[in-house]
Amino acid sequence: MKRNVVHLADRVHEIQPFHVMELLARARQMEFNGVDVVHMEIGEPDFTTPQPIIDAGMRAMAEGKVHYTPALGLRELRYAVSDYYRSHYGVNVSYERIVITPGASGALLLALAAMVGPGDQVLMTDPGYPCNRHFVRLLEGEAVGIPLEASENFHLSTDLLAEYWQERSVALMLASPANPTGNIIPPDHLKALADCVTDWGGRLIVDEIYQGLVYGRPSETVLQHSQEAFVINSFSKFFHMTGWRLGWMVVPEGYIEAVDRLAQNIFLAAPTVAQYAALAAFTPETLAVLENRRQEFVRRRDFLVPALRDLGFGIDHIPDGAFYVYASSQHFSRDSLAFSHQVLENTAVAITPGIDFGEYKAKDHVRFAYTTSLERLALGVERLKSYIK
Ligand SMILES: Cc1ncc(COP(=O)(O)O)c(C=O)c1O
Repeated sequence: MKRNVVHLADRVHEIQPFHVMELLARARQMEFNGVDVVHMEIGEPDFTTPQPIIDAGMRAMAEGKVHYTPALGLRELRYAVSDYYRSHYGVNVSYERIVITPGASGALLLALAAMVGPGDQVLMTDPGYPCNRHFVRLLEGEAVGIPLEASENFHLSTDLLAEYWQERSVALMLASPANPTGNIIPPDHLKALADCVTDWGGRLIVDEIYQGLVYGRPSETVLQHSQEAFVINSFSKFFHMTGWRLGWMVVPEGYIEAVDRLAQNIFLAAPTVAQYAALAAFTPETLAVLENRRQEFVRRRDFLVPALRDLGFGIDHIPDGAFYVYASSQHFSRDSLAFSHQVLENTAVAITPGIDFGEYKAKDHVRFAYTTSLERLALGVERLKSYIK
């Protein structure tokens, strides 16, 4: 009898690691050896959680609020999210449709688990957030990437969508603002895509995790155009709470009971202390802190985009959301992974290779995250300049 055999399911072999993790490990090793690394690869805000949220979390702990909440989340928090949609976006979303989840990650898994079965197709943009295709694989579905062009501002037209949509397609996943492009889908395009998917009997899943991190335009939600979409959101990015592991989802009517059952079984509930802390996320005091930080992201973007263009990176359109610049590195290399490693070794600047976000022209692109201070970004650009020139 064989003992201690590691038996892995087939799906595990198809779930790839983030290539950037390898780069991050190397960067950490360099730092351990005393090298000063400029981090432009990290997809989370450098700011800490606003103080009112931390205080609310501490109070909850001190008061012993440490037990499970209902699977769909703390009722007060569901109400608070519902109020936020009303006051900031002018949309009425009943608290009953709001599900509190362990991060947007938990929300994505729940939405897909509710809809995807073996052989079902889920369409998604290429480039896009890498975990989406892995979630679909986990559920024995098939992820299909739709290639988008940087020169067209990563626009997905309804014609292109129609070419990809099939009998077996059950959902289309979009993100706005998007990772890795920082692109925002204009409201009329979003509405047109939502209408098509509804007409074809599928569901739109819109990841709005970077909502609020928008520059020079108003923040929006697909809920202003459709009540049929699954909307994914999170306290991670705009609210600077990555490590608290808290997000939410707006579920279309008709899915609430199924999502409740799935949430009970998969997670039991989102972290309780984080939920109490998040009650302070929508207060005027916290929102004022977040607005200052948003303005700081604008300054960083406005510095970084022209600086990268001057160096020879290709940026067709100025990204107007999230905290990423997805730039063509074609001028320097046709292998973005090798290029990212060379840049790290020679300049101690860490960036993310495009291959982490899909296949289409992925070897020609790299992602810069402006999740570090202006001074550090300037230092990074200086180092790149001496290496590249
Ligand atoms: C587009 C997108 N969706 C979801 C997530 C997962 O976020 P969370 O921390 O809320 O699980 C990320 C994280 O980077 C992301 O970029």
